[in-house]
Amino acid sequence: MEKKRLVFSGVQPTGNLHLGNYLGALKNFVSLQKEMNCIYCVVDLHAITVFQNPNELRNNVLETLASFLATGLDPDKSIIFNQSSVSGHTELAWILNCVSKIGWLNRMTQFKDKAGSDKEKASVGLYIYPNLMAADILLYKATHVPVGADQKQHLELSRDIAQKFNNDFNCKDFFPLPEPLISKNISRVMSLRDGTKKMSKSEESDYSRINLKDTKDEISKKIKKAKSDSNQIPDNLKDLDTKPEALNLINIYSEISNNNIEKVLNEMSGKEYSFLKTKLADLLISEITPVGKEIKKLLGDKAHLEQILQKGKEKANIIAEENLKNIREKVGLI
Ligand code: TYM
Repeated sequence: MEKKRLVFSGVQPTGNLHLGNYLGALKNFVSLQKEMNCIYCVVDLHAITVFQNPNELRNNVLETLASFLATGLDPDKSIIFNQSSVSGHTELAWILNCVSKIGWLNRMTQFKDKAGSDKEKASVGLYIYPNLMAADILLYKATHVPVGADQKQHLELSRDIAQKFNNDFNCKDFFPLPEPLISKNISRVMSLRDGTKKMSKSEESDYSRINLKDTKDEISKKIKKAKSDSNQIPDNLKDLDTKPEALNLINIYSEISNNNIEKVLNEMSGKEYSFLKTKLADLLISEITPVGKEIKKLLGDKAHLEQILQKGKEKANIIAEENLKNIREKVGLI
């Protein structure tokens, strides 16, 4: 019998979403919604592993939902809700905390990056964050998880946890081993200021990223100022090996223009980067600014957004409770 395919993914409500979230995750969310059952979650419990101002968090949850909708997610096709409204996430996370191993968590590079040099001061939540992520996915027995490349290690851990649960409780195939769906073309959008770092909400300079809510002028300015290369654009990828910022611009252009890299290099070789930048800014403006406008419009009706979350919560909760019943039984909880 063919296994039921189910997509799950989450996005943290920690401020403006950016081009990395859009190309690495949201665009894939939207195309998957056409062919599979999908559950998309605003993961507020993940956000609070680092202190969040409560009022800002509330707004950011709605803004993340608005970004989902503005990019094309449809609450009649996909289940869309916020994580803390379905208590099964934390219950399963606790059970999985007791399945997962400290040695596994110690290998997580994102914890090392986020905790920085003083790990003693990081929250316990930040350390066990990947177990909560496994709970998000396994609570729904999701089979496919669209994410950017930065989440690959967490996904591998989710698979290890699922496998160990199935072995520990002698229930082969109870949890499916979730497969990451990582875009082949652009799995990691890099910072516009430093091509060795991923584009991120937490980088200090706003010039390092294109936000979904950026205006036409902001996009133009940021692309103009983006680091590139003083040489002309080469005709082959090898010559970009040591030029991460230039490569990043070419990758973004290739993705947003729907042309493969070879075609882009063919079109651009011998030209200055300013030529590429002008074309890239135009394409970004026509793709991103309508999304930004729609986000702002949706945020004008908060009651409508809250209603969508409420409906999503109800649908998610039914699946979660059904699965939790079986999980509790496997573990021996009465
Ligand atoms: P988050 O909120 O950091 O990012 C949301 C999604 O955007 C992708 N992404 C990127 N992709 C390409 N280039 C970039 N520069 C870039 N920056 C972010 C991320 O890979 C992600 O897909 N732990 C997750 C949220 C999460 C989750 C889950 C995801 C919680 N539970 C369960 C999947 C399944 C995170 O912090 O994503």
